[in-house]
Amino acid sequence: MTNHNYVKIFDTTLRDGEQSPGATMTSAEKLEVAHNLARLGVDIIEAGFPAASPDDLEAVRQIAVEVGNPTSSQNEAKVPVIAGLARANKSDIDKAWEAVQHAKHPRIHTFLATSPIHMKHKLKMDPEEVVQRVSEMVAYAKSFCDDVEFSPEDAGRSDPEFLYVVLGEAIKSGATTLNIPDTVGYTTPDEFYKLIDGIIKNTPGMHEGITVSVHCHDDLGMATANTLAGIRAGARQAEVTINGIGERAGNTSLEEVVMALKTRHPVFNLETGIDTKQISRMSKLVSNYTGMVVQPNKAIVGANAFAHEAGIHQDGMLKHQTTYEIMRPEDVGVNQTKLVLGKHSGRHALRNRLAEMGHSLDEVELDKAFARFKELADRKKVITDLDLEALIADEFYKPRDVYTLHGMQVTCGTMGMPTATVRLRGPDGTIYTQAAIGTGPVDATYKAIDGVVKVRCKLLEFNVHAVTEGIDALGEVSVRIQSENGHTSMDPQSEMEYVRVYGGHGADTDIIVASAKAYINALNKLIIAQTEGSEEKVKNDFGVMLG
Ligand code: KIV
Ligand code: ZN
Repeated sequence: MTNHNYVKIFDTTLRDGEQSPGATMTSAEKLEVAHNLARLGVDIIEAGFPAASPDDLEAVRQIAVEVGNPTSSQNEAKVPVIAGLARANKSDIDKAWEAVQHAKHPRIHTFLATSPIHMKHKLKMDPEEVVQRVSEMVAYAKSFCDDVEFSPEDAGRSDPEFLYVVLGEAIKSGATTLNIPDTVGYTTPDEFYKLIDGIIKNTPGMHEGITVSVHCHDDLGMATANTLAGIRAGARQAEVTINGIGERAGNTSLEEVVMALKTRHPVFNLETGIDTKQISRMSKLVSNYTGMVVQPNKAIVGANAFAHEAGIHQDGMLKHQTTYEIMRPEDVGVNQTKLVLGKHSGRHALRNRLAEMGHSLDEVELDKAFARFKELADRKKVITDLDLEALIADEFYKPRDVYTLHGMQVTCGTMGMPTATVRLRGPDGTIYTQAAIGTGPVDATYKAIDGVVKVRCKLLEFNVHAVTEGIDALGEVSVRIQSENGHTSMDPQSEMEYVRVYGGHGADTDIIVASAKAYINALNKLIIAQTEGSEEKVKNDFGVMLG
C-alpha cells in the first residue's frame, strides 16, 4: 500500500455534501465550486452521482471536461482526478463512466454495504453474494477505467474479518483505492485506528500501489478525530467536504483535517497539496451557494475562530499573538487588514486587492465589481476585505438570474402595518411592481415578491448577520426555501427520494434589501433547477421567458 508522507485530499462537497438536504447547487454553481476546488489544490474531486438524474450526469460531465483537463497555463500534474459515484450495478457504472471519461484523470467510485445491518435490511443479500457482486462490479468498472475506488459502505459497523475478504476481492478485481467509510459516524478514534491498521495488515493482496482512504461522518462529533486516527494508522487519502457539509451531522471537514496536519506537523509529519490561504474564501463560496450558514464557533472557518473578544484573551494577545492563537489567520486566508479601500480608491487598487484575495476578474466583471464598490463606498467609509468578499459573493456567486431586484420601498414601525413595494425586473426585461402588507418588513417584502414570482414555496430558514462591525456594517442574509410541488432527488445510499431545498444569499448595508436579494436568489435557483434551465419549461411552468 501507498505509504509516503503525502495525504491525498478527496473532496466530496459536490457529492456527499450536496446530497445533504438544503445544499442543492445548480450546475453552474457546481462548476464554479469545482474550479475553485482545483485552485485550492484538492487531489480528487468527487463531482457527483451521475445515475441520480440526467442533470446530475451532465453536471459531472461538464466538470470532467472543464476542470478535469489542463488549461494552457496549467501544470498537468495539478489537474485533479474527477470521480463519479456509482452503486455496484452496471447501469450506475455505465453512467459514471459516461460522465467522467472526459477528464484527463477519471475515476469510478463504486460502493456496496458490508455491515450485517445493511446487508440484511437494505441489500437483502448474503455475505457471499456481496463478495461476488463486489468482485464483478469492480472488474466491470475496471474494464472502462484504470482508476477504480471501492467503498464497503458502513465499514465502521462491519465485521473486520469480512472486510478483509471483501477488500481482498476488490484488489483482485482491480481497485486501486480502498475507501473505508464510517457511514453513520459511529466509531471512536481508537476503534477506527484499529480498523484501518487491521485492514492494512490483513487484507490479502494489499500492496504499494493501493491507497487506503478514510471517509467519516460526524454524527457523534468525531469525524475529524476519526479521520486523523485513520491517517495515523496509514491511510493516505482523506475524504472530506468544505465546511463539513453532508448528510445529517455532515462529513469530515476539509479545513479541519488540513489545518490539523499543518499546525501539528511534528505529530503527523505529513503533507497535503492544499493552498491553505484559500480556505476562508472557499468556505464562503460554498456557504453562499448552498445557503448553509457556517456556525460562528466552527473550527477554522467560523466567524469567531480568530476573534478574541474576552478581555483576558485580548490582553494576552496584545502581549504576544501566540498566547491564544495556534494558527495565523492569514494562513487560512483570513486577512486582518482593517482599512483596505475607501471612497477615493480607484479601479486599479480594487483589481489588485481582489487579485491578492484570489479573485481574478475579467474586464466586464471588474466593471461590475467596481460599480458595486463605488456604490458601497458612498454608504460606508471603510471597506474591508470581508466587505469585498460579501460584495463579490453577491455579485458573482449567484445562479443565473431569472428575476432581479430593481428597487424597493418599505415602511414599518409602530404606527401602522409594515408595507413593502417591490419592483422586479423579469427575465425578458419587463418591470413588475407589487405592494403587500405583512407582519414585519421582511414578511411584507416577501409577500410582495411572491405577488410577482408566482412560485409556491415554504421559507424554511432565514438568517441575518453583520459582515463587519459598526453601525454601517454590510448585512448578509441567507435563506432556505422548499418548493411546495416538491422537486425531488435520489439519495444513492438510502435510495430514497428527498425534496430539494434551495439556498439563497444576499448582502447590502440595508438588511431588508439584503433579505429581498436572498429570497429572489433562492427563487431563481428553484426556477432554474426545476426547469433545468430550459427556456421552454421556464415559460410553461413559470410564465416568464429567460433573458
Ligand atoms: O458514507 C458513505 O458510506 C458514503 C459512501 C458512498 C462512500 O458516502
Ligand atoms: Zn458518506
